[in-house]
Amino acid sequence: MTNTKQLREHWDKLVPEYDLNNHRKWFWSSPYAWADEIARRITDCKKVLDVGCGAGALSIPLAREFDLYSLDFSLDMLTQLKTRKDELGADVEMINADAHKIPFKDESFDAVICRFAIWPLSNPEYAIEEIVRASKKKIVIIEGDWSRDEKRTLRQKVIGKPFYAIYDSYYKLATGRDPKKHFKEMKKYHQISTSCEKIKEWLENLGVIITEVDYSFKDRVSTKKSKFLQAITGFNEPMFILSGDKT
Ligand SMILES: C[S@@+](CC[C@H](N)C(=O)[O-])C[C@H]1O[C@@H](n2cnc3c(N)ncnc32)[C@H](O)[C@@H]1O
Repeated sequence: MTNTKQLREHWDKLVPEYDLNNHRKWFWSSPYAWADEIARRITDCKKVLDVGCGAGALSIPLAREFDLYSLDFSLDMLTQLKTRKDELGADVEMINADAHKIPFKDESFDAVICRFAIWPLSNPEYAIEEIVRASKKKIVIIEGDWSRDEKRTLRQKVIGKPFYAIYDSYYKLATGRDPKKHFKEMKKYHQISTSCEKIKEWLENLGVIITEVDYSFKDRVSTKKSKFLQAITGFNEPMFILSGDKT
């Protein structure tokens, strides 16, 4: 795998943005509403692997119902996860490993989930193979359809872009942090851009039966502030939950 070290260093620096306690400010959504969305898709499962778990903003709330195993290649993300899980008394098993090489035998988990951690991978198709291999029953992938060359609308150009430029400067001033810089740097390591269609195709090629593609859940997890800003700025990136059954 190329450039893993550089990529990991960027993720190590993004820990505060992915902290459970910062979820409403950074993701502008409720971690517990997110967990409910996933939980109802894996009701018949017990042992769950969260691939690219970050600082555990999804794993920790899910651990109230499931036996959670959380995998990330960033040790700093996992250290933060440990702090929060200890504070909340959540039972989460942490695994410091690469998503391209999941260190478990075939079908070790009832479900394998992955939220916003396919797009950062240098070989997402290969990681999907690993995810499918590690699952016995269910696969749930949450991603965005972030097309790099999508045309901006007038509202996005005139209101959205200036608004977020001001917001980014404010964030930098208030926190002394510049997460955008890390995301920008990371882009150069990605040869493949992911999309719902592409991930669906990879899963189907591996024999997974797609049971649901849901683009409607965003409203159910977003905070009021987030919904308001989506309406004003015109930026409302499409996100999907893709669920599949292993045959
Ligand atoms: C956008 S964050 C999402 C974090 C978490 N899933 C969430 O929703 O809060 C992507 C995560 O994927 C992890 N990641 C990126 N590349 C990885 C790889 N090759 N193997 C394992 N984890 C990786 C990063 O460290 C980061 O924590």
